[in-house]
Amino acid sequence: MSAARLTGTKYGCGSGGCGACTVMLSRYDPHCSANACLLPVVSLHGAAVVTVEGIGSTKTKLHPVQERIAKAHGSQCGFCTPGMVMSMYTLLRNQPQPSLEDIREALTGNLCRCTGYRPIVDGFKTFCGCCQNGESGKNCCGGAPAWSQVRTQEKTVQTLVLHLHFQLMLQKGGGGRLCFQGNRVKWFSPADLSDLLELRAAHPNAPLVVGNTNVGELCRRSSPGFCRERVTDPTGTGALWAIAGVTFGSACSLSEVKEELQGAVGRLDPEESRVFQALLNTLRCLAGKQIRNMAVSLPSGAVCLHRLSLHPLYWQFSVAVASYKLTHKLPFSPFAGGTREVPLNEKFFAGFGRTHLRADEVLLSLHIPRSQPWEFVSAFRQAQRREFAFSIVNAGMKVVFKEGTDTVQSLSIFYGGMGPTLLRVKRTCEGLVGMSWNEGLLEEACRLLAEEVALPPTAHGGKTEFRSILSLSFFFKFYMQVVQELREKVGRHKRKRSEPESYLLTILHPSHIQMVSEIQSSKDPVGRPRVHIAAFQQATGEAKYYDDLPAVSGELFVFMVTSTRAHAKIISMDFSEALRVPGAVTFLSARDVPGQNRRLWFNNTEELFAEEEVCCVGQIIGAVVAESREQAKRAAERVRVTYDDLSPVFFTIEVRARILLTVHTSGEASDREHFETPLICGEMYMGGQEHFYMETQGLIAVPRGEDGEMDLYVATQHTPDLEVVGHTLGVDSNKITCHVKRLGGGFGGKVMKIASLSAIAATAAYKTGRAVRCVLDRGDDMLITSGRHPFLGKYKVGFMNDGTILAADITYYSNGGSTLDESSFIMEKALLHMDNGYKIPNLRGHGLVCKTHLPSYTAFRGFGGPQGLTIIESNVDLPAHQVRAVNMYSEEESYTHHRQPFCPRDMVRCWDECLEKSDYSSRRLAVQHFNATNRWRKRGICAVPLKFGIGFSKGFYNQGAALVNIYKDGSVLVSHGGTEMGQGINTKAVQIASRILGVPMSSIHIKETCTGNVPNAAPSAASFGTDAVGMAVKDACEKLMKRLEPVMKAYPKWTWSQWVITEAQGPHTSVDWEKSEGAAYYYFTFGACCSEVEIDCLTGDHKNIRTDIVMDVGKSLNPALDVGQVEGGFVQGLGLYTIEELQFSPDGALRTRGPNQYKIPALCDIPPQLNVHLLADSQNPNAIYSSKGIGEPPVFFGCTLFFAIKEAIAAARRESGLNGRFALSSPATVEKIRMACVDRFTEMVPCPEPGSFTPWAINV
Ligand SMILES: Cc1cc2nc3c(=O)[nH]c(=O)nc-3n(C[C@H](O)[C@H](O)[C@H](O)COP(=O)(O)OP(=O)(O)OC[C@H]3O[C@@H](n4cnc5c(N)ncnc54)[C@H](O)[C@@H]3O)c2cc1C
Ligand code: FES
Ligand code: FES
Repeated sequence: MSAARLTGTKYGCGSGGCGACTVMLSRYDPHCSANACLLPVVSLHGAAVVTVEGIGSTKTKLHPVQERIAKAHGSQCGFCTPGMVMSMYTLLRNQPQPSLEDIREALTGNLCRCTGYRPIVDGFKTFCGCCQNGESGKNCCGGAPAWSQVRTQEKTVQTLVLHLHFQLMLQKGGGGRLCFQGNRVKWFSPADLSDLLELRAAHPNAPLVVGNTNVGELCRRSSPGFCRERVTDPTGTGALWAIAGVTFGSACSLSEVKEELQGAVGRLDPEESRVFQALLNTLRCLAGKQIRNMAVSLPSGAVCLHRLSLHPLYWQFSVAVASYKLTHKLPFSPFAGGTREVPLNEKFFAGFGRTHLRADEVLLSLHIPRSQPWEFVSAFRQAQRREFAFSIVNAGMKVVFKEGTDTVQSLSIFYGGMGPTLLRVKRTCEGLVGMSWNEGLLEEACRLLAEEVALPPTAHGGKTEFRSILSLSFFFKFYMQVVQELREKVGRHKRKRSEPESYLLTILHPSHIQMVSEIQSSKDPVGRPRVHIAAFQQATGEAKYYDDLPAVSGELFVFMVTSTRAHAKIISMDFSEALRVPGAVTFLSARDVPGQNRRLWFNNTEELFAEEEVCCVGQIIGAVVAESREQAKRAAERVRVTYDDLSPVFFTIEVRARILLTVHTSGEASDREHFETPLICGEMYMGGQEHFYMETQGLIAVPRGEDGEMDLYVATQHTPDLEVVGHTLGVDSNKITCHVKRLGGGFGGKVMKIASLSAIAATAAYKTGRAVRCVLDRGDDMLITSGRHPFLGKYKVGFMNDGTILAADITYYSNGGSTLDESSFIMEKALLHMDNGYKIPNLRGHGLVCKTHLPSYTAFRGFGGPQGLTIIESNVDLPAHQVRAVNMYSEEESYTHHRQPFCPRDMVRCWDECLEKSDYSSRRLAVQHFNATNRWRKRGICAVPLKFGIGFSKGFYNQGAALVNIYKDGSVLVSHGGTEMGQGINTKAVQIASRILGVPMSSIHIKETCTGNVPNAAPSAASFGTDAVGMAVKDACEKLMKRLEPVMKAYPKWTWSQWVITEAQGPHTSVDWEKSEGAAYYYFTFGACCSEVEIDCLTGDHKNIRTDIVMDVGKSLNPALDVGQVEGGFVQGLGLYTIEELQFSPDGALRTRGPNQYKIPALCDIPPQLNVHLLADSQNPNAIYSSKGIGEPPVFFGCTLFFAIKEAIAAARRESGLNGRFALSSPATVEKIRMACVDRFTEMVPCPEPGSFTPWAINV
C-alpha cells in the first residue's frame, strides 16, 4: 500500500495481533474486516480492498465513523485510529443497526495503547440501534443521526459498481487456474476442487493457504525455501444442516461458523446444542474479529493444531478428506466417492503441528454432531488475557450417562496446551466408567488426572505447575456443571440458557469533566474540551508518521544485526553471505563510524555498535544496508557471528554483586528503635513492562550533501538527544536538523534508544551518501529497546495497633540491564515517592540499581514512581477509611520525607470524594457478603490516594522554549520544543496562543517540532511537557502582544490581520541527596482511585468490575484531553499490574517479542464502569493557567486492581484455613492468582525443587 501512497493502513506488529492494519475486504456481501499484514496481495485477485482513505477525507467529506471517533476524543496518538475506523466501518456495512455487543465484537482485534478505549466506544456507540442505556425505543446516542439515515446518503457510485462487478464474477464462475510467479514464491489459485487436488498431488510440500493467519506467520519465521510454492484453497465455504448435525465446508471462516452455530443454539433445544454451545464459548474468545473473518474454520485449525483453542473439542467431530488419488480411484483407495471420512481423535493428531493427513490430501468438510439426551459436553480455556489471546490450557470434556441414571457410561477428556499435541487422558476416563457422578468420582478423577497430566518442570511454555492445576480445575468445573445440569434434567432446578457474561454487554460510563466559568469569553478555548487538533487527519489516515513519508530518491534501508549471546567476546563477524543477497549494499559496524561509536549520557557511555564484547542478547553489533527493507532483513539474517562466551552472566535482580548506584534518603530517622523492632518484614517484586507504543521506533536520515548537513525525520520524544548523531558523524549539532511531526505513542520509550538508532542510520547515510530509512520490526523493537525496570522492594515496617505506621525502611533493587541509561534517575524518583500520601515519622530508603546482562531498561511513563509508590501501598493493610484517619498527611503545611513543603488539602479532597463517589463503604460490605456466599469466586475492593511529583528532579530540564511567528495575513505559526505523541501538547499550545493573541484556534498552526526552530528543548516527559511548553508559548505570545499594543491602541477598530505586520525558563528543582532534602518537584498532582475485581479461584481469571478515579488536574486546560490521559494512564497501569508479563529464556533471550506473546490491555479488560472525575475548584499557582501535569500519575492507579485481587485471594485462602500475610508479585497474572488460591487441587500437584531443573522462563 505504501507503493500506492496509501499510508493510512498502519504497521503495528505484522502478525495479526494489533489491528492497526485493518482494511475491509469484499468479494460479495458480507464484507469483512481483515488484517492487511496477513493478506498476500496475490490472494486478493477478484476482491476489493477498502482502506481508510477510501471512506472519507478532510478534503472531501469525513465518513461519520471518522468524524465520531475524532469528536469523542477517541484518537490520541492516532496510530490505531484508522484500524479502529475500518473495523467499525465494516460492521456498519454489514449491520446498519449494530448492538453494543456487535461493536464490542468488531473491536476485539484492535488494540489501542493510549486511550483506555472508553472514548472510542463512546464515539462508536452513537451508531447503535438501541439507546446508550440499553433501553430501546428512545432517542439514543445523544441525538446523533441514526446510522441507517446516514447510510442512505453514504451509498456511493463506487459501491454500486463494485457490487455489479462481484455479481458478474459470480455468474462467470471463478475462471481458470491462476499462477503468480515472484522472485522467491510461486502462488497457484486453483480453478476448482479437482484442480486443487491435482496441484496438491504435484506439489505435496507446498503449503495450502486459506486465511494465511498461520502460514503467513510461519513463512516469516522459517527459511525462504518453505514458501516456494503456495496453493490457495477453493474448498467449500457453506454449512449444511442435517438431523445428525452440521457439516461445514473446510474453507468456512471461523466467523461464519460462529454465526451458524449461534443461530442453531437459538433454534435447538439446549440439550441438542450442548456441543455447539461449548464451541461458541471458545470461539468467542479466539483471536480477534479480523482473524476470525479470515481464518478458515476447524479443518485448518486441526492441521495447525498445536495452537488451536478448539482442538480439544475435535474428538466430537469427523472430517471428510479428499486427494487426487482418492478422487481418481487409484487402486489402493478403499473409499467410495473419492473421499474418506476420518474421526478427529488423538490418532489423527500425530505430533506437534502434524496430523496423519497425507501430504497430497485436503480436508473437504467437517462434521459436528448434535448432542444426545444423556450426553453432557463442555469446553474450557484460560488465556493470559480474557480475549484475543492463545489459551494456556484448554479442554474439551464429554460424559455420557446410562439413560435415566448418573452412572458414567463413557467419558472423554482432551487437553490442549498440556503437551506437544492433543492429550487424551485415557486412563482417567476408563477408570471412571461405571461410577456415579458424585464426590467419590471427583476424588478418584483428580487422583488419576494428577498422575496422567503431570508436566515435567522443563516443559515447553513453562508455567508447568499452573497448567497441571488448571487441568484439575477444569475437570472440577465440568463436574459441578454436570451436577447442575443433571439436577435440571430431573426437573429439580430450572436454569436459564447461559447468558454471555455481563462484562461483555455493559457500557462504559462517560467521564465527568470540569466546566469553565460562565464569565469566560466564548471565544476563549482554554479550559474547554476541544478536540485534538489532528484528530480528523488521524481518523482519515492523512496524519503522517515518520514511516509514511515518501521515499527519498535512492533511499536505502538499514536493518540491525543483534547479539544472540548474553555475555561474550566477539571473535568474528562474517558478512560475505549477507552482501551476496540481491539488493544488499553494505555492512556497518563500529569501524564505519566516522566520529565516536558512543552515546554519552551524564558521563556514562554506551556503545552504538558493540566492538569487542557483547553484554546482552539484542545488543546491536552491526547493521546491513540494502535497497529495500525485505532485502536488508534477509541479508541481516545471513551475517554469521562467532562468539566466545564469557562468565559470569547475571539476569536476575537477586544478584547484588554488580551495583551501579546507591542513593539514600531518610526522614526523621533518628529514632532507631522503630527500625529495630519492626512488626513486618517482607518483599515485593514488580515485573517490568514493554512500552508497546503502536508505532515502532525508527527514522529517515537524509544527507544534504553539503558541509556534513543531515536531516532526520524521526520519532523521538527528545530532539536534543540527537546531538549524539553529531558526535557519531564528527560534526556540530548545528548541522543536524531533527524533524518530528508526531509519534505513534512514546510513553518514555522514545527518549534514549532512538538516539542510538538515529546515529546508526545517520552513519549508514554518511557511508553510502544516500538517504537511509530504519523501521524496527515489532519483535526487534521489543528486544532492542527494552522497557520499564523490574523492581524488588525489601521492607521492614513498624506499626502501632491502630495501623499507624511509625517507621518504614525500604530497600529498592532495580534491574538496570547492561548499561546505566536513565536507571539512576528512575531510582531517585522511586525513592522520592516512597511516602506516597502518608506521613511516616521515620522513613528510610535505599536504592540499588543492579547491572545485569539484559538489554538496558529505560524510562517508562511514571519513571520509577509507580514502583516507589507500590511498595509502601503493599504495607498499608488497613481498610480505606482507616488509612486516611491514621496515616495520611493532613496539616496544611506538611513536609515530605525529603522535606519539601506542600499542602495536602486537595489530596484529602480527592480521597474523600473518591470514597463517596465509589460508594466505597456499602460496596465493601457487599463484597464481604459476596465472598461469604461464593466458594470459588471472590471479590476484592481497594482504594489508594496519590501524591505524584511533577517535573524533572534535574532543574535544567524544567524549561520550555517556543517560537511564535505571526504572518502578514494574521495567521500564526507556533513552534515549540515538545513532541506530540497523543498527549495533546499541540492542542493545548494552540489553545493558550488563541487565548492570548485573541485569534481563533483555526488561525493557529503547529507544523512540526524542529531543532532548526527550537533547539535544546527538554524531553516531552515527566508530565511536564505542557507546563514547560505552555509557559513558553504564553510568554512568546505575550511578548508579541506587547509589541502590537501601541498599534492596537492607536487603531482600535482595525482587525487582527491589520494590526499584524521567546524562550521561557521553568522552575528549578533539586535534591541534596547527602542531606536527603530539597524541593524535588515543582508541585504535586493528587488523586485517588478505588477499584473492585472478581477472581475465579479455580482458573485465576479475573474480571475488573468497577473503577472510580478522582483526579486533581488543577484548572484543566482541556478537560477532554486530561480525562483521556487519566484513562489511558490507568489502563496502562492495569496492564502493568495485572496482565503484562515479559518472559526471558534461561539464556537471557526475550521470549515475548510480539502481541501474540505479550498482552497489553484490550477492550475486554476495561472495567465496565470506569468513572473519572476531575476535582472541582482546584488551584495550582505553579503552572500555566493553574493547570497540572497529568501524563504519568494515573499509571499508579492500576495498583488498585492488584491490591483488590490480593484481597480477593486472601478471602479464598481463608476458606482453606490460611489467614496470614502472603506474597504476591506484580503483575497478578492468571497463573499467580491461581497459584495463590491454595486449595485441594493446588496441593495435588507437586512443586518441583527450585534449582533442580532448568525452567522454560526465568524471572528477572
Ligand atoms: C493474531 C492471531 C491470534 C490467534 N489467536 C488464536 C487463539 O486465540 N486461539 C486459537 O486457537 N488460534 C488462534 N490463532 C490461530 C488461528 O486460529 C489459525 O491461524 C487459523 O485457524 C488458521 O486458519 P487459516 O485459514 O488462516 O490457515 P492458513 O494459515 O491458511 O493455513 C493453516 C494450515 O492449514 C492447512 N490447511 C488449510 N486448509 C486445509 C484443507 N482444506 N486441507 C488440508 N489442510 C489445510 C494449511 O496447509 C496450513 O498448514 C490466532 C492467529 C493469529 C494470527
Ligand atoms: S500490523 Fe497487522 S495486525 Fe498488527
Ligand atoms: S490512540 Fe490508540 S494507540 Fe495511540
